[in-house]
Amino acid sequence: MENEKKTKTKEEKAFSRKLLWDFLRGSKLFFVISMLSAAVAALADMVSPQIIRMAVDNALGGKESNLSPFVMGIVDRFGGFAYLGEHIWIMAAAILIVAAVKVVAQYCFRVYNTKGAETLTKTMRDRLFGHIERLPYAWHAKHRTGDIIQRCTSDIETMKRFVSEQMTSIFRILVLLVLSLSFMLSMNWKLTIIAMLPVPYVILRSFQFHRKIGAAFLDCDENEGKLSAMAQENLTGVRVVRAFGRERYEKDRFEEQNEYYTGLWMKLATPMARFWSISDVLSGLQIMLIVVFGSWLCIRGEMLPGEYIAFLSYGATMTWPVRMLGRMISEMSKAGVSIDRVAYIMQAEEERETGKALTPAMDRDICFDHVSFAYEGSPEILHDISFTMKAGTTLGILGGTGSGKSTMMLLLDKLYLLPEGCGSITVGGVDLRDIQTRHLRRNIGMVLQEPYLFSRTIAENISITEDEMPMERIREASRAACLDETVESFQKGYDTFVGERGVTLSGGQKQRAAIARTLTQQSPIMIFDDSLSAVDTETDAKIRKALESRFGSASIILISHRITTLSKADQILVLDHGRIAEMGTHVQLKQGGGIYQKICEIQSASAEEVSA
Ligand SMILES: Nc1ncnc2c1ncn2[C@@H]1O[C@H](COP(=O)(O)OP(=O)(O)O)[C@@H](O)[C@H]1O
Ligand SMILES: [Mg+2]
Repeated sequence: MENEKKTKTKEEKAFSRKLLWDFLRGSKLFFVISMLSAAVAALADMVSPQIIRMAVDNALGGKESNLSPFVMGIVDRFGGFAYLGEHIWIMAAAILIVAAVKVVAQYCFRVYNTKGAETLTKTMRDRLFGHIERLPYAWHAKHRTGDIIQRCTSDIETMKRFVSEQMTSIFRILVLLVLSLSFMLSMNWKLTIIAMLPVPYVILRSFQFHRKIGAAFLDCDENEGKLSAMAQENLTGVRVVRAFGRERYEKDRFEEQNEYYTGLWMKLATPMARFWSISDVLSGLQIMLIVVFGSWLCIRGEMLPGEYIAFLSYGATMTWPVRMLGRMISEMSKAGVSIDRVAYIMQAEEERETGKALTPAMDRDICFDHVSFAYEGSPEILHDISFTMKAGTTLGILGGTGSGKSTMMLLLDKLYLLPEGCGSITVGGVDLRDIQTRHLRRNIGMVLQEPYLFSRTIAENISITEDEMPMERIREASRAACLDETVESFQKGYDTFVGERGVTLSGGQKQRAAIARTLTQQSPIMIFDDSLSAVDTETDAKIRKALESRFGSASIILISHRITTLSKADQILVLDHGRIAEMGTHVQLKQGGGIYQKICEIQSASAEEVSA
């Protein structure tokens, strides 16, 4: 078991790495150019102290020092050190040119690094979103939206920073370290060792500190998430808060969390200040070592003053990168977590065709044959459901909440797959598993129990089933759903924008918009999952009448609590705790002595009360 777990994580790690490499497609070249530019800039940083050194020691001081043949070749081309000593402006110009090269290199670095970073982010976002869109409904039902969104935003951001900041920085710092080390070694190995003495310690300390503080940062992040979730929930549920007069309570709760969150940052202030102060002291110490031992070596004649100046310059240049190295290494571990979190989504399997992907005619009989079903990790919800619904007829389903009505419809739409051995669902004799999912869903128009409208116009919401739907079809569907009149009464008609979650529409209007949306599809099978619950009985009757006249040939499944809605159905199925309790027509069931009769009596009694 332990072994199995280990190999799995290894596989997962390999997947994460491959994923990042995959994401880098399209931005790799940008990063290569930016890294090369960074290397050139680092080289320029290292070269100018050498020019100063030669100006001081060789050109002005007239001393001999061990310079490489390559450098001597360049010096000779400019007339040798003696000539340069008299025309010292040439060396000053050289410093200027090196500085200019550095500026250009840094410019290229910034431009290409940003291009790479943004291209990478875009690729990651597109790939992730595309993948999430194709994940099965069951996956979505299992995962929290907030968590998925966080993976798509802040984890992507962390991955971007990992490549564009941490990787490039580490590369730059390493180039800088190697170059300065080799330049220093070429001048004086003793002073090099002394100057480098504190470096490993500084890197180690910085690494340890940032790793420790990283955990605290994570805590801050999590609590920031809690705080914004709290604010978001309050904004969404503003009506509940107002209606129950809970403003004070919610405000106190928010303030408490806010205080805790602020406290976390406050607590970080002391160790941060201590770390940076100690780091400053250590850097100062490093420079002091160079100053003391450098002067000593100069006095003993083991080193030239120009070399001494160059050493000081290298020491100062290295201070910052050395400190950053530890930080970058520790931050890279954070990126590892983010990559794994994104990989978790990318690893989830997309919805795939499992069977023969047939595309049979769908205006055929629907048959549930000994269907039993349980959601993953839950007890069985549907028990041995068997019935046949003739093509073109209307099936009514009645049942208490949680009896499994919606689950049956989700199974029919293949939003959840019926596992092998749990019975079968067929349309025209073809097993659902063998019907192409896309074909199936195109031919089933489903109005969900909780209709969802996008923050778009009413017309856009209704015409969502097709790319460019003529206005006349939108109107027609809307008329059949008894929505037309309401929409016309709006100032902007069908161009009325449905606010966040359709706040500007009432519950019943939303349901009707969702029905109109489904009606545009003209599907041979139509499902209304409790979709008329929020409209009044009169409108309910009107809609059903319109359905009858327009979709007489369609197979219609009506799920409802209202006997009046169900009474006209050709067949009614009463579901009780996942089992079929009764089945028959309204007339048969009305006197069947079962649940249906009881509900019938209760509802007609209350209807009489109302009319009385
Ligand atoms: N995704 C899910 N995971 C686990 N259990 C679920 C899921 N969806 C629904 N259920 C449970 O399945 C049962 C039937 O739900 P549902 O089919 O929606 O009932 P109905 O539509 O008849 O009210 C309920 O007890 C519900 O809690
Ligand atoms: Mg339901």
